[in-house]
Amino acid sequence: MTGAEDRRTSGVAPQPTYRIAAIPGDGVGPEVIAAGRRVLDAAASAGGFALEWQELILGGAAIDAYGVPIRDGDLEVCRDADAVYLGAVGGPRWDDPNAAVRPEQALFALRGGLELFANLRPVTVEPALVDASTMRPEVLRDVDVLIVRELTGGLYFGRPSEERRTPEGRVAVDTLWYTEQEIQRVVRLAFELASGRRRRVTSVDKANVLASSRLWRKVVEEVAPEFPDVTFEHRLVDSTAMMLIRDPGAFDVIVTENLFGDILSDEAAMLTGSLGMLPSASVGARRTAHGLHGLYEPIHGSAPDIAGRDMANPIATILSGAMLLRWSLGRTEAAASIESAVRSALRDGLRTTDLARVGAGEGTVRVLGTQAFADEVAARVAAGSGAGGARATVPADSDPDQASGLTDDDAAVITATNTMLGMP
Ligand code: IPM
Ligand code: MG
Repeated sequence: MTGAEDRRTSGVAPQPTYRIAAIPGDGVGPEVIAAGRRVLDAAASAGGFALEWQELILGGAAIDAYGVPIRDGDLEVCRDADAVYLGAVGGPRWDDPNAAVRPEQALFALRGGLELFANLRPVTVEPALVDASTMRPEVLRDVDVLIVRELTGGLYFGRPSEERRTPEGRVAVDTLWYTEQEIQRVVRLAFELASGRRRRVTSVDKANVLASSRLWRKVVEEVAPEFPDVTFEHRLVDSTAMMLIRDPGAFDVIVTENLFGDILSDEAAMLTGSLGMLPSASVGARRTAHGLHGLYEPIHGSAPDIAGRDMANPIATILSGAMLLRWSLGRTEAAASIESAVRSALRDGLRTTDLARVGAGEGTVRVLGTQAFADEVAARVAAGSGAGGARATVPADSDPDQASGLTDDDAAVITATNTMLGMP
């Protein structure tokens, strides 16, 4: 129990305050973070706690302001915060292939520096939005996939990674490198998560070509016996890309290395019809006083083509905020109230531009801008509306309403990570 909570129980009681580092970043980042903060602040005041925001300039914006994508001190602020809330970084303005500094370096510094080795991307299809997908509805019926992407190794971090001039012309090299410990910890987390879900792990690799994939397979074989209740399969990445379209409902937990996970998660996102729907959490082994330390961000990126036009879909960022509340702050009830507020807004026919063509059954569709949509969600959170508004505990998997809910995954992550870390 924290000092703040002690004082609360003895009646003198300032409300508990959590420190969040907010990184708006580039492109649509500032808009979706503003939207997400509105909703999180509404959830905090409804839940009787406070969020203290520390806003940091990172990515392209930091290159413009300071000449570097991230300053050392900023990494420390993120490390000291209870959680990090990030919009997106990057954009054409900083895309010069010859530039020494690139916005994305800020992301890698955060992921590596905070040791966030697992990136969790839950993919579910909200029934109200089935028509948003280019896929046939019957293919989408049972989609509930959790992609566990290794985040601090592989080609993203391997050295050398450079272009060289040789007498024969230019050559470029990237290095795909994994240690068994790096594979083990993320694979173990995936199995732990699967044991709180449908108990099925698909480990994705390219073992018919890559040595790193063959080591990956061996480590999976070694970790699997620790989880006798979980079945697993190895699947090649090309075949997985195909199966994700043919029969996505067959997957439960997918675990894979960094680059494969990057690509497959964008593909899986399109099952939902919009990249703007999917939240993510990046976590490692570190805990704070309240929960896991983690970084929460939408998977959609900076979308420079629509930046500054109040057109971005804030749902992925809002749902990332719900994940932050649950995993890093232990605020389960507030998280659930955000998730059900989003669901209720969608059921009421509220849409963002990317979802404008998706009908609302008998109801009328109302297309809103980024901030207005967030205000609608925030108002629902404040009013405690939506089935889960007053829910104090994570619902069991019997909840028929959980289609866009992340609740089961979230609960599984808490259990899994606690077990992994030897916590009760
Ligand atoms: C993601 C993004 C990043 C990645 C980019 C922006 C470097 O695509 O988080 O999926 O490749 O990891
Ligand atoms: Mg990506």
